[in-house]
Amino acid sequence: MKIFLDSANVASIKTFADMGILDGVTTNPTLIAKESQGFLELVGEILRIVTGPVNLEVVSQNTEGMLHEAHDLAALAPNVVVKVPMTSEGLVAVRKLHKEGIKTNVTLVFSPNQALLAAKAGAGYVSPFIGRLDDVGHVGMSVVEEILQIYRNYDIETQVLVASIRHPIHVVEAAKLGAHVATMPSDVLEKMVKHPLTDIGLKRFLDDWSKAGLKLPERRTLEAKTRGLAGN
Ligand code: E4P
Repeated sequence: MKIFLDSANVASIKTFADMGILDGVTTNPTLIAKESQGFLELVGEILRIVTGPVNLEVVSQNTEGMLHEAHDLAALAPNVVVKVPMTSEGLVAVRKLHKEGIKTNVTLVFSPNQALLAAKAGAGYVSPFIGRLDDVGHVGMSVVEEILQIYRNYDIETQVLVASIRHPIHVVEAAKLGAHVATMPSDVLEKMVKHPLTDIGLKRFLDDWSKAGLKLPERRTLEAKTRGLAGN
């Protein structure tokens, strides 16, 4: 499963990109608005760090406006994926963009039927928002399961991008179901890196090492020793 960061924060994006665990980034108007930079400057910085898909969302509600914005966004870099909302106007835009070879992510998907229609229109990705479904008493992950089953039944190539992830268990569940991508905020990704037993284990190793007063040898000493051993 690919891991995307759901953030427009350059420092966070850089942190996870440096770890080599970031396959892409999703943003939305709320996430962009949280940052104190202008849109172009901010997106330029993100695109300099991320080589995988960078999802940028249109804000127009009519097809013409969406298409205009989509063309501008797609022109920024070849790895830009245009996020289009799951509306009738959005579907028309997705169909046209698909014909032009511009990759789209249909966002704000809350049902298997919406996902089926988005795929038919030519979406590259669909984004079911599982956390927001959980919030209103639906099991978000079951929508992911249904979408995956429908797509498999008909060999649909649209990728399921599990969005609105709230905790690491969501990520495990998405991976077990075989979702193509999970996008998550930085706190979830940080929690995935950490385990208390790792911290306890590391502390114990280092305490034992320092109690014994040991030191790792310098590389040159090590090389000389290895040569000596090979000569014996
Ligand atoms: C996905 O692309 C969305 O930006 C995101 O996952 C929404 O998550 P939220 O429900 O936590 O705002």
